[in-house]
This record gives sequence, C-alpha cells and structure tokens, in this order.
Amino acid sequence: MTDVLTPVLTDNWGTDRSWTLSSYEDQGGYAGLRKALEMAPEDVIAAVKDSGLRGRGGAGFPTGMKWGFIPQDNPKPKYLVVNADESEPGTCKDIPLMMASPHTLIEGVIISSFAIRANTAFIYVRGEVLHVIRRLQSAVEEAYAAGHLGKDIHGSGYDLDLVVHAGAGAYICGEETALLDSLEGRRGQPRLRPPFPAVAGLYASPTVINNVESIASVPSILDKGAAWFSSMGTERSKGYGIFSLSGHVNKPGQYEAPLGITLRTLIDLAGGMRGGHQLKFWTPGGSSTPMLTAEHLDVPLDFEGVGAAGSMLGTRALQIFDETVCVVRATLRWTEFYKHESCGKCTPCREGTWWLVQTLARLENGQGTEADLDIMLDQCDNILGRSFCALADGAVSPIQSSIQYFRDEFVAHFTNGGCPFDPAAATLFAPAGATA
Ligand SMILES: Cc1cc2nc3c(=O)[nH]c(=O)nc-3n(C[C@H](O)[C@H](O)[C@H](O)COP(=O)(O)O)c2cc1C
Ligand code: SF4
Repeated sequence: MTDVLTPVLTDNWGTDRSWTLSSYEDQGGYAGLRKALEMAPEDVIAAVKDSGLRGRGGAGFPTGMKWGFIPQDNPKPKYLVVNADESEPGTCKDIPLMMASPHTLIEGVIISSFAIRANTAFIYVRGEVLHVIRRLQSAVEEAYAAGHLGKDIHGSGYDLDLVVHAGAGAYICGEETALLDSLEGRRGQPRLRPPFPAVAGLYASPTVINNVESIASVPSILDKGAAWFSSMGTERSKGYGIFSLSGHVNKPGQYEAPLGITLRTLIDLAGGMRGGHQLKFWTPGGSSTPMLTAEHLDVPLDFEGVGAAGSMLGTRALQIFDETVCVVRATLRWTEFYKHESCGKCTPCREGTWWLVQTLARLENGQGTEADLDIMLDQCDNILGRSFCALADGAVSPIQSSIQYFRDEFVAHFTNGGCPFDPAAATLFAPAGATA
C-alpha cells in the first residue's frame, strides 16, 4: 500500500537534523539550483511550464504561466513573495515542511527568483509560528554562508537577497494582495484588481506570489526533469502533493502522493477510521472547500475530480469527521472563524458573516425554525460572489454543503429543542444516499 506514496518533499523529514544545510546537501540538496544556474532564466520558466505544476496554495493556477506574466521589459525591480501564511482551518502542510526542511523552500526560492529575474525575495510567514520563523532565519543564514544567497551566487553573476518576514497574524493576510499590503507595512486588506501583482505588486513592481509547497516543488523539477514530474498525477493535475489527514483516523499525518489518489486509499494508509467508527463528513482542502461525505470516498483527489464532485481540491487539508460529530456544531465553529477573520472591507462579508453566526447559533441552540434554514441559504446567496475577495466565498462553503448533505440534522436541532446529537444514534443523521 505504501508504494502509492511518492515522498519527494517529505523524503528527508526523518533524517537526522533534516533542517540543517549539511543534512540537506548530504541528501542531494541544491543540485537543482546548480542545474538552474547553468540555464537561461526563460528555460527555467519553460521547464516549470512543461512540468504542469499548478499552484499548491488552493486555486491551482499554473505556476510557470504565472511566472511568464512578469513583464521583463519593465525597468522596475521584480520580486518573488512566498506565501507562508497558512491559516486556513485544517491546512497544515507548509509549516511542517518549513520546520523539517527549510532548505527545500530556500532552494526553490533561489531558482524561482532567478527564473523571473528577481534580486530580492520575501517569505511571508504566519506571525504566530515563531519557531518556524527562527528555523527559516537560521537556514537563510546558512545559505548565505554557503554562497547559495548573496552576491554572484556560485560565480553565476546572479545576486539574490532573501528576507524572512513575520506576518500580521490574520487569515486575510494569506490572500495574496492583502499579504502585499501587510508586507508593505499597512493593514492587510485585499487590493482591487487590476492591476494584478504580476504588473504592479509589491511596491507597485512586478511580483510573483506563490505558496510554500509550489516553490518547494521547483528544485525537484529542475533536478529530475519536467517529464519526471508530469509522469505523476492525472491528465490535468500533474505531479505529487502533500495530503494532510487530520481528525478521526488512526494515524493522522502528512501523506505525499500523486494527485488523483482517493480518500479511500489515504484512509487505509492512515490506518483506517479510529476505533471502528465510520466516516461522516470530510473537507477535501480545508474548511473553505465544501464538505463531502462517505459517498465521495472514491473521488480522485485532483483539481478536476474534486470540482466535479461539487467541491475544490484546495490545500489537500483532509479533515476527517466520524459519526460522533455534530455537523451543525462543526459548521458553527468554522463560521465563527470566518466572522472573526473577515477584514471588514466589504459589506456582504463583514455583515453577512456576523448574521450567519447569529442564525446558525440560534439553530444550534435549538431555537431556530425551518425558515431559518432558508434565511441562512439566502444570506449565503447574498455573500457568495458578491464580496470583495474569496474569504467570503469560503465562509459560505461549510453552511451550504452541510445543509445539502445533512438538512435532517439541522431540522432535528429545532424539533428537539437543542442539539439532539447522541453518538449512539448518530446514523439517524447520515447524509441522504450515503451507504458507508
Ligand atoms: C482568505 C484567503 C487566505 C489565503 N491564505 C493563503 C495561505 O495562507 N497560503 C497560500 O499559499 N495561499 C493562500 N491563499 C491563496 C492566495 O491568495 C494565492 O492564491 C496563493 O498564494 C497563490 O499561490 P500558488 O499559485 O502557488 O497556489 C489565500 C486566499 C484567501 C482568499
Ligand atoms: S470578502 Fe471579507 S475578507 Fe474579503 S475584503 Fe470583503 S470583508 Fe475583507
């Protein structure tokens, strides 16, 4: 079963002091950089395009194509910004990657900056994770001392400075344009587009913003080749990715596998559901991706497969909930998070997430009515697609999908006058059509 795994990013995590430069180089680290420095920058972009790598931060935009948008005739400096804000509930892949192997990311930053001809790069790290910030900073110091960063890197004539920046401790600062405002020292709120960051991003200069895992995948593509990368995965979702299983499985953790693997296989790898319990609902890519149920166990976990099932691949943060969990309560917790993290810039999200919490809390307390369910779906309609950024779209996902699959469980809350949830009777609330 473990032969379905493809450890690349996670391959060295178990080695002694894997985060040090010497350990990373002993495992073949920085070989991709040496190859890249012998190439023309545009050939590095072509290799990443050919690999089919799509952004690992959620939206799945092709990485090489994004790099190709940087106007090289623009005389302003170019910047690479790594989005290491990782604050979505359930998402937990970038922080372990940076802790276990910061040099994988740093090598990726150098190759990617070289490709877009940037001489300054930033890693914007979630402010609360001081241990990660310290680890990255000492790895950056090691990389400077070894000549991987700084002036005339390995005699190539290419210069790069890398800054590790502690973020502002807000989920919205992971939205790429809010991140840029925060990095510039302002309150993190999304910017109006156009102009897009590729044209006027950080300090109004051409900027590429990529997720940690996207950039960390680049060294392997340069080292082993675009064809090697694209031989994994599915037709339009190439390569491998880290699948983070959390919740009610026996062995939660990071499982690196080709895109297109199914949750059924991943749960097997994770030792099955805990203590004989059954899968009730799960998120494919963090709380902002509509939840799925046991009927979706065989959906290929790639961008197209999860989309066809009515959700999104997102960050492959697979939060697994068994039948002991009240879906109404779980949805309320997520909705409280979105209300708290709404940046307040636009009315549908600022007011709407507040109203969603009021209505949902009333339902959860057993004081709601059938009409509240329709009101809540109406509130969702008024938020989805009518807000300034995707935070608000994510906020409605848990509500719409939980009502879609578990309407009976919502109704039972008000017919019962409170949470009727009794784990022993949990199958009463299995989603319509579910068989597991
Ligand atoms: C509210 C919100 C939070 C986000 N948080 C993150 C994050 O923590 N990390 C990340 O890489 N992308 C995050 N994104 C997506 C980014 O805006 C952007 O699409 C991504 O960094 C692009 O990188 P990629 O092309 O490598 O995936 C967030 C988006 C939204 C709307
Ligand atoms: S949708 Fe929400 S988070 Fe995004 S700009 Fe509007 S208020 Fe801010």
